[in-house]
Amino acid sequence: MGRCVIELELIEPPEQVRLPPGVRLLRGFSLPWEAALLADINRVVAAAPFRHMITPGGQRMSAAMTNCGSVGWISDRSGYRYASLDPHTGQPWPALPGSFSTLARRAAEAAGFVGFAPDACLINRYAPGTRMSLHQDRDEQDLNAPIVSASLGLPAVFLLGGLERSARPVRLPLAHGDVIVWGGPARMIFHGVAPIVAGLHSGLGRQRINLTLRRACPT
Ligand code: SIN
Ligand code: FE2
Repeated sequence: MGRCVIELELIEPPEQVRLPPGVRLLRGFSLPWEAALLADINRVVAAAPFRHMITPGGQRMSAAMTNCGSVGWISDRSGYRYASLDPHTGQPWPALPGSFSTLARRAAEAAGFVGFAPDACLINRYAPGTRMSLHQDRDEQDLNAPIVSASLGLPAVFLLGGLERSARPVRLPLAHGDVIVWGGPARMIFHGVAPIVAGLHSGLGRQRINLTLRRACPT
């Protein structure tokens, strides 16, 4: 029985993978905002540079990260949490750009989550070879809001697991412009990113940038 399931996944083209309730893959959804998103990423990074955070266990995270919004997600020896100041600059994080919040609200709406008002965006930068291990987004206080995740630059394979860490993840290829939304019954799914394959993207060069838009503080 288990064997049949595995074979079906292998022969099924990615577009036809059945996504669990609460997960939507919106192909090319961010492309209308592409120029504004890239300019706004540059503005955020100029004020709050990418850095490699340290996990509570003392490991250097392989994706470089920064944030914008009223709070930003950080990790250090004392744990994972949201903070209103960037520990690197001592300043508040740059404001959430309008392009980010509009994209997030529209993508959430398209996935059936109306009224999404993100207050935080984690920006991850992946060089070739960089991966993100399976995890849940669980540091937000408002778990009713969905997560909107926008992929830019080099392609990636998104690992979409289940509500238990042990579930075998489905591999979803993501291209520049694709957006994934998960919420409701899928809000606590495990997810990750397979190692990025080396390549050159016309707009972003040798990197993948992912925007994860979230509601961290209660509305
Ligand atoms: C994340 O879960 O923080 C990032 C996911 C991604 O890069 O697609
Ligand atoms: Fe995540």
